[in-house]
Amino acid sequence: MTASYTIAVLEGDGIGPEITREAVKVLNAVAARTGVTFDLQFAPFGGQAYFDTGSAFPEETKALCDKADAILKGPIGLSHEASKRIPVEEQPERGALLPLRRRYTTYANFRPVYLPPELAHFSPLKPSVVEGGIDIMMIRELVGGLYFGSKEQGVDEQGRRFVKETLEYDEDQIRRILHVAFAEARRRKKVLHNIHKSNVLMSSVLWNAIVEETAQEYPDVEVRHVIVDAAATALCLNPRQFDVMVMENMFGDILSDLGGGLLGSLGLMPSACIGERKSYYEPSHGSAPDIAGKGVANPYSMIGSVALMLEKSFGLAEEAAVIWDAMRRVFGEGYTTADLGDPDGKHAVIETAAFGDKVAEAVNG
Ligand code: NAD
Ligand code: IPM
Ligand code: MN
Repeated sequence: MTASYTIAVLEGDGIGPEITREAVKVLNAVAARTGVTFDLQFAPFGGQAYFDTGSAFPEETKALCDKADAILKGPIGLSHEASKRIPVEEQPERGALLPLRRRYTTYANFRPVYLPPELAHFSPLKPSVVEGGIDIMMIRELVGGLYFGSKEQGVDEQGRRFVKETLEYDEDQIRRILHVAFAEARRRKKVLHNIHKSNVLMSSVLWNAIVEETAQEYPDVEVRHVIVDAAATALCLNPRQFDVMVMENMFGDILSDLGGGLLGSLGLMPSACIGERKSYYEPSHGSAPDIAGKGVANPYSMIGSVALMLEKSFGLAEEAAVIWDAMRRVFGEGYTTADLGDPDGKHAVIETAAFGDKVAEAVNG
């Protein structure tokens, strides 16, 4: 009997539906190749879901996600102006995305910052810095820290409005993400860059103590410690010195977008959000309201998220490799997307749907 998987598909906002459509084309191409069945269950999630149903994460969507083998999620979020039409607590980031992460404790966020050598010209960095390509796996802790710490707001004794947000971690939260990172480093080049701010933050002092303890179990992995601000510069000056990087939630949010800048576009940034019992897959970027509906969004991030899902949730590593190869082939045949442009003057810019068609064709053989 061939395998069958149920996937909850949350198209999201802005460019979400456009890039999800292309990801689904590619999934269908994988299904046709392999005979594996993907049962896609679409459900509302995000800002549009709030306007349509009164909730950014409706109960039916929760029920569907609970039952699914994996979740494929497009970006959510509204433009600055449109956001103001929703109460702050229910805006899709706070009202849907963080609750999704919390519901399934998807603590391990893999954000590959990857540009093969033949695509190095898409990077805004000098050729001498990026020749040979970029291949970094950023591992971001996704359910702790400032994002989920306790909050307080009010008016102080002098009548000033104030707010307090706390950066909280316990040792179990830190240890579990470090095990993921050490294991990934062991699988790759056996070097782990630990990104921290222990010169200021006590959370990083605890984090680093757990790094030392966990490292005992991985004597074959070399740990290099870099303070987060210096890491930002080092990534720009010499990204090739990094392989696997691990960091807490907020550092990972910021440095992974910097990663998109190194590649030339956030459109090249897929991600996997792994939990112990349930995982979901989404681009690292947002809903890009500035380009939504124009047919110019790069679906690579969403199609790459499908590849990560096949590999990490369904054990279909070979099929995942077929998707990565297909995307490289489309660029190799001389096509590019509007966000990347045509820096070497050798590519034809094609639209979202055309890119998806070409990747699906390449997957079909
Ligand atoms: P953004 O990531 O949406 O866009 C930043 C820039 O990158 C824009 O110029 C956009 O056009 C471009 N871009 C992003 N993805 C692209 C793609 N696939 N192809 C081509 N260009 C692409 O960041 P923002 O504008 O700051 O945020 C917009 C909304 O998205 C906000 O509401 C934010 O909260 C939300 N957001 C959601 C997620 C998520 O769902 N995981 C992630 C980040 C931001
Ligand atoms: C991301 C996004 C989210 C984050 C927002 C939308 C809550 O920026 O996935 O990187 O900050 O984690
Ligand atoms: Mn982000």
